[in-house]
Amino acid sequence: MTPSTLLLEGIHDAADSRLHQESVHVRRAPRLTDVDCDLRNSISGLGIRSRTTLDAAAFESLPKLSAVGCFCIGTNQVDLNCAAGLGIPVFNSPFSNTRSVAELVLGEVICLHRKLFDRSAGMHTGRWRKSASGAHEIRGRTLGILGYGHIGAQVSVLAEAMGMRVLYHDHQPKLPLGNASQVDSLETLLRESDVFTIHVPDTPMTQNMIDADAISKMKSGAFLLNNARGSIVDLGALAVALRTGHLAGAAIDVFPEEPSENDASFGHELCGIENVILTPHIGGSTREAQENIARDVAEKLARFLTTGSTNGAVNFPEVSLRPRADQLRILHIHHNVPGVLSRLHATIAKVGLNINAESLDSNMQHSCVLLDVDPTNDPTVLDALASMPEAIRLHTFPPRQHDAATAVATLA
Ligand code: NAI
Repeated sequence: MTPSTLLLEGIHDAADSRLHQESVHVRRAPRLTDVDCDLRNSISGLGIRSRTTLDAAAFESLPKLSAVGCFCIGTNQVDLNCAAGLGIPVFNSPFSNTRSVAELVLGEVICLHRKLFDRSAGMHTGRWRKSASGAHEIRGRTLGILGYGHIGAQVSVLAEAMGMRVLYHDHQPKLPLGNASQVDSLETLLRESDVFTIHVPDTPMTQNMIDADAISKMKSGAFLLNNARGSIVDLGALAVALRTGHLAGAAIDVFPEEPSENDASFGHELCGIENVILTPHIGGSTREAQENIARDVAEKLARFLTTGSTNGAVNFPEVSLRPRADQLRILHIHHNVPGVLSRLHATIAKVGLNINAESLDSNMQHSCVLLDVDPTNDPTVLDALASMPEAIRLHTFPPRQHDAATAVATLA
């Protein structure tokens, strides 16, 4: 039985190619509401972007659904607990737009040093303003990176290639790339940087991390860039620092509140301040990032649907096994209570099957066991595993007609 996946919301067509390679049948529709009952009843994989909400009612309308791919960064649109309770792993692609953000940061660093947006806007309104005042090369300037993760590290490499001196601060020890140096405190980074760029996630520790006090510690005439999350910088304090001339410019891509619709009106106290670049959360928005996301999530979906690997799932224990020919592969998803594993092993041993490989992982609520056992045509062992009281779902690879009957997930 070929697994089939429904892709919604115009997901990049690199996803189709990857799924086809694994013999996953692909259907497409603009929205879930456009999908008829027959198709809803048949799909095992579902690909969405940010506009499809998957709640308990949506899951109930997709009885054979076994995996969800969010072809985007976040997964807020999915009720992850409900999905996990139904034995449905949810995959996403948190780092596919790293390069896009890093390139935007480098562009902004140069633009701010040359007041490029102000100069260009002036020309568009008929003003010729040729001046070297306040304009700098970026070569030799010090870039301070807060958060040396996927994006921060890429920014570091690109900035060094342009001749910048790179310092970073991260609350974890991070191996420097190139000639970058880790500094031991945020304060040192603020004091040393000509340009300060933020690449930490939104956490209780990072909210309002760059407040009036932090901004006051920045070098006079420095630039501040935030392409991370809107909660991290106190924009009111930033506006004061820019208006008083303490800072020479800023680039802001993320805001505490952002319009949900395109073409919505936007007003902010930063509007109209000289040498301030404002962008509508486009740091990761490139065709290349969309294509990377499509490949990455399609890969995770295909691996789950064809091998049972849950690696990369955001709501699920992670299991995987290397491919093995001539084996019956079983994925058993169950409530995490003591004794299930030994009964599962005993059930398999009772019918004389050998377990040749096994991967197990659990979280507080759920456990996944992926097993390769001697091949068999005897369905009784699958029936016995599926009817264990703790079982949520059972899959075999390759899938058999029998699996549908033994899927025992119930809606929470
Ligand atoms: P990441 O998880 O790879 O790196 C974050 C780094 O910050 C880690 O090295 C971590 O140790 C460090 N960190 C966390 N808390 C810290 C603290 N309190 N003090 C110092 N260091 C701390 O994340 P990634 O992929 O580099 O993303 C960074 C940010 O960029 C995230 O907020 C993400 O949401 C945002 N982002 C924005 C996009 C846009 O369109 N503007 C697109 C993609 C990501």
